[in-house]
Amino acid sequence: MKSSNDPIGVFDSGVGGLSVLRAMREQMPNESMIYFGDQFHVPYGLRSMKEIQKFSEGITRFLLEQNSKLIVVACNTASAAALKYLRGRFPDISFVGMEPAVKPAAEITKTGKVGVLATPATFQGALYASVVERFGAEVELFQHTCPGLVGQIEKGELDSNATRLILEDALLPMLKKKIDTIVLGCTHYPFVIPLIEQIVGENVRVIDPAPSVARQVNRLLEAGEKTNQMGESFRVRFFTSADPASMKSLLPLLMGNDGEVSAVMWKSNQVTL
Ligand code: DGL
Repeated sequence: MKSSNDPIGVFDSGVGGLSVLRAMREQMPNESMIYFGDQFHVPYGLRSMKEIQKFSEGITRFLLEQNSKLIVVACNTASAAALKYLRGRFPDISFVGMEPAVKPAAEITKTGKVGVLATPATFQGALYASVVERFGAEVELFQHTCPGLVGQIEKGELDSNATRLILEDALLPMLKKKIDTIVLGCTHYPFVIPLIEQIVGENVRVIDPAPSVARQVNRLLEAGEKTNQMGESFRVRFFTSADPASMKSLLPLLMGNDGEVSAVMWKSNQVTL
């Protein structure tokens, strides 16, 4: 049984998963966490399933070497491509992944028309097909991959004209179709909710799944009696496979506070400090 003060491991292709880490910090302020952004390989959205599985396995091994007691795949693309694979490779560790929030969207929409923003690999995955089959029967879904949006957010451009144009390309046609609910199916996208809301107005609900993912993590820890009852102070550490200064410069903007970022290297599918 992992000691309860071991960290929760969280990873994404880049800084997107920080939107989940932010929600986890709010709900579990005493828990230690390790965040890994695979910025050497971002974006994942256009990559093959096999590549994403290889990256996700290497990152999981690294997070387990850091004594992670649970792993959060804070990436819809990696969840779609690799969550089942990871559970098979690491049967003794609990994983929490992302799932496009079509279920809550179908429950709240009044027009029955819902926009879904996600990467190509997320839309192509069996997970999305299953979500649509289980929860999307009564609604009309309008999908868009927002080409270039992940890269804009990785640069910290949350409200530049270039970012606005990408979002308008996706959202204006959806507004014409009378959507009243938008599902953020990429963990990068919550960081541009203010810009999305400027474009779509106050009559369109935007669903960020991060708070419900954080609740799921907390439930799993409590069920496994792995919450941090040891009273030791928590630590939040950040790792990137690219330039640590770049991720560090974005933490105040994306997380609201500073943090220490360490660099790791990829060496033949293994992540090393
Ligand atoms: N933030 C990730 C997601 O939720 C991946 C985006 C990417 O690297 O293409 O899909």
